[in-house]
Amino acid sequence: MRFIPVLISSFFASAVLAAPGRERRDTLPDSFWAGNILTLDSKSNGTIQYVTSTIHAPDITGQTVGSYAVAFVGIDGAGSCSSALRLGLVFNLTTEGPSYTVIYQHDIAMGPIDGVHIATGDPIEFTVNAPIGANMKLGIVTVKNLNNNQSATQKFNLTERLCGKTAEWVVENLTDDSTSLAVNSMLNFGTLTFANAEIGGNDLGQLDSNIVNIIENGLVLTSVSADSDSVSVMWL
Ligand SMILES: *[C@@H]1O[C@H](CO)[C@@H](O)[C@H](O)[C@H]1NC(C)=O
Ligand SMILES: *[C@@H]1O[C@H](CO)[C@@H](O)[C@H](O)[C@H]1NC(C)=O
Ligand SMILES: *[C@@H]1O[C@H](CO)[C@@H](O)[C@H](O)[C@H]1NC(C)=O
Ligand SMILES: *[C@@H]1O[C@H](CO)[C@@H](O)[C@H](O)[C@H]1NC(C)=O
Ligand SMILES: *[C@@H]1O[C@H](CO)[C@@H](O)[C@H](O)[C@H]1NC(C)=O
Repeated sequence: MRFIPVLISSFFASAVLAAPGRERRDTLPDSFWAGNILTLDSKSNGTIQYVTSTIHAPDITGQTVGSYAVAFVGIDGAGSCSSALRLGLVFNLTTEGPSYTVIYQHDIAMGPIDGVHIATGDPIEFTVNAPIGANMKLGIVTVKNLNNNQSATQKFNLTERLCGKTAEWVVENLTDDSTSLAVNSMLNFGTLTFANAEIGGNDLGQLDSNIVNIIENGLVLTSVSADSDSVSVMWL
């Protein structure tokens, strides 16, 4: 899996504010994800055990066929933890039209989750859960389409325990060579909003918000805004 080390939020946030649009910024390192990453304060003994959010399957008609992006809700996968558990929605444009696939990703594997039919505009609720009683090695992901009430739950025995130190709501370019996903150009997903973004756990205390943007060849391609219960990622 390809996870990047934690990014310095204030730097990217101010870089975007200072440079709206597609101005070149050759000094910025490339980044393939955009969104908000919450990190527990380093002095906190707390544990994030639960992350949720609802997104609407984006309208991607009119984009380049073969392009795609992935929206993920997850625990860890950023920072120093070597484990991670994420649940997401791949949206890609095929010759037959938009296609939406629910996928999980954990420390050693990634794959589809079947059983939930998704059409453009459907509100899809994602929940990622790592009960502390199971020593953070049990992962439970649940996806529910709030329009048709179809849902699916999958449990995983993780090989390495989660740390429960970061929570994330991100859209990314999945460039992992080890997956069977075709590597293609990234989709213009318009504005994607993670609504009802919530985390749960114990002793959470202080959480630091890290806004990250997709940057390619020094070009900032997204603009992210976050408030107390939502994260919006806009393709510029
Ligand atoms: C997305 O990944 C593909 C394959 O690595 C790459 O060609 C493309 O430039 C990337 N786009 C962005 C915006 O990161
Ligand atoms: C974290 O746990 C250590 C050891 O039990 C304790 O000394 C410290 O005060 C705790 N920190 C917080 C912020 O609760
Ligand atoms: C989904 O569940 C809600 C709440 O139980 C119910 O009001 C609604 O009618 C259901 N929708 C469908 C399509 O079954
Ligand atoms: C996880 O491992 C335990 C103990 O080996 C086993 O009982 C359980 O069925 C496994 N759960 C999953 C979801 O694979
Ligand atoms: C795009 O959708 C098609 C049809 O559902 C699927 O076969 C393909 O794997 C998807 N591509 C990606 C990158 O998810």
